[in-house]
Amino acid sequence: MEEIDALLTESRTFPPPPAFAAAAHGNTRDPWSRADADYEAYWAEQARALEWITPWKQVLDWKPPHAQWFLGGQLNVAANCVDRHVRGPARNKAAIIWEGEPGDRRTLTYWDLFVEVRKFANVLTSLGVHKGDRVGIYLPLIPECAIAMLACARVGAIHSVVFGGFSPESLRDRMNDAEAKVLITADGGYRRGQIVPLKRNADKALAESPTVTHCVVVRRLAAGVVDDTFSQMQEGRDHWWHRLMEGAPAGHEPQPMDAEDPLFILYTSGTTGKPKGIVHTTGGYLTGVASSTKLVFDLKDDDVFWCTADVGWITGHSYLVYGPLANGATAVMYEGAPDWPEKDRFWSLCEKHGVTILYTAPTAIRAFMKWGDAHPKKHDLSRLRLLGSVGEPINPEAWMWYHEVIGGGRCPIVDTWWQTETGSIMIAPLPGATVTKPGSATQALPGYAVTLLDSAAKEIGIGGGLLAVTKPWPSMLRTLWRDDARYVSTYFSKWDGRPDLYFPGDGAKRDADNYLWILGRVDDVLNVSGHRIGTMEVESALVEHPAVAEAAVVGRAHELKGQALCAFVTVREGQLTSLALRDELREFVARKIGALARPDDILFSADLPKTRSGKIMRRLLRDIAEGRALGDTTTLADPSVVAGLKAQYEAQES
Ligand code: PRX
Repeated sequence: MEEIDALLTESRTFPPPPAFAAAAHGNTRDPWSRADADYEAYWAEQARALEWITPWKQVLDWKPPHAQWFLGGQLNVAANCVDRHVRGPARNKAAIIWEGEPGDRRTLTYWDLFVEVRKFANVLTSLGVHKGDRVGIYLPLIPECAIAMLACARVGAIHSVVFGGFSPESLRDRMNDAEAKVLITADGGYRRGQIVPLKRNADKALAESPTVTHCVVVRRLAAGVVDDTFSQMQEGRDHWWHRLMEGAPAGHEPQPMDAEDPLFILYTSGTTGKPKGIVHTTGGYLTGVASSTKLVFDLKDDDVFWCTADVGWITGHSYLVYGPLANGATAVMYEGAPDWPEKDRFWSLCEKHGVTILYTAPTAIRAFMKWGDAHPKKHDLSRLRLLGSVGEPINPEAWMWYHEVIGGGRCPIVDTWWQTETGSIMIAPLPGATVTKPGSATQALPGYAVTLLDSAAKEIGIGGGLLAVTKPWPSMLRTLWRDDARYVSTYFSKWDGRPDLYFPGDGAKRDADNYLWILGRVDDVLNVSGHRIGTMEVESALVEHPAVAEAAVVGRAHELKGQALCAFVTVREGQLTSLALRDELREFVARKIGALARPDDILFSADLPKTRSGKIMRRLLRDIAEGRALGDTTTLADPSVVAGLKAQYEAQES
């Protein structure tokens, strides 16, 4: 896998707009120079932006592959995200502007958050939660997510947020792995006009989660809708949130935490088997997210920052809750689907709340493209000044659409590469300093040592290779929950004898300007006739065709070429599919990239199989392309999509 032929060339460049650059936090190379000159001093400077109870004695202790940051230091994350703002001019500033899917709204000031978090911290204590205990959070995207997370941080409990779209089995497995004591859930949540029966799911999970002794239930469902079947309370175990809060004392002192005490566990799927419990700690994590939120999003006091991710994912942890709140910013939180009740919901939200910074995912951007420009055009998006992208490579076509249609051609785009494991953004532009190129996450941020290596750990100059991180960073995962051996083998064993090199599992290419282009997971990289092709590049070419909305490319075994390319394509609304279009697309890719990348098969489909977080499940597409039985489909948002595709593929073959 050491070489990945880089086949697409993208030559458009976008310098920071001069007025944006002039006012930006980072508008020179200075942060990089400082970080390069003294790495530890740079991170110490970032950490000093937080409030510490006890100063650290040592910035870094690195015994590969285990790092400890800010040793001897003590702080509390909730005190940093709430209390210190209440003492200053942000006391009455909106911390969270929330909108529910049905259109209900709540705004919590920093003072409100202070009141709620302290009370809920007392509730947790009254339920027997102590420092180091694990608390599960399984909620719709409502302000109680942030209150519960911060209250855990306040008492020193380790939260494990489970995305509200996960099944009872997934919840059960996560609660059992973490041996959680308490679960916080709601009677239900709203998604595309339907009720997600969270409490019912929780009841099923808790029937087989013996460590959970208390369950706190938020009443989310509207009075007229509430029906006991959504919230059958089990005597002794279940408690209404609002009842507990009524009786809770107001005052609460935050628990001083060691910098290296765990803050949370977040489960993420690996290439095989059981989800991995990624463990993040207190001081390093908060340093990484607070610093990157300010720098990458150029966060200012009057910004309205909307990160569209759910708190069930790392993006929601870092850039919906901890990063914005640590900076005393105003964050927008939206419970529901982007196409409910209409396909303009995001743009209506941007207009209504005066969003200035929007951070979303390429999969959403491609959906918006498919739905057409009329939806955003109906709304005044002129307050937007910066756009962000995360989660997968953004193809240049989607980047340009985002730039022009959403950003009105004036907003820089920050394409941010990072992972659940990295805790905070590692590769991204500084919007006031970096010339961007559509499709490139550009370069590592100051304080991050990212490079490209071949399989012998030799550095690659220009060309494709394996992404590697050569120095520890404050917000890195520390271990996998109760499975340190898997931590070592998954992330630090790629290069023999080099436990100091972190392997994220992604391939990338470096261009002549030293820019990085993420090519995706290396298991998504194909070898066609001896050429290594990032499936993303073929997908990117396909979606440049005006008929195509979304494409996923996988490999299947091929006698002569090693692997053949198989493309699954969804077309734009109103576009008809035909054999002629299939041939046209094959030629289109051949023209864009070269004959070697011409897809052997193209299958049109109304939908692609996606996880609930929106990632296309290529593993299942490979199963279809190779004619195998379908593997595990339990993490799919809609399992029927994949069965339909398989039938269609087989019909086409015969
Ligand atoms: O393959 C990379 C892709 O998402 C992976 C991490 O997934 P997860 O832990 O779920 O975190 C997603 C949100 C941070 C990475 O290994 N990825 C993430 N951001 C980008 C990306 N690929 C390309 N460009 C990005 N900006």
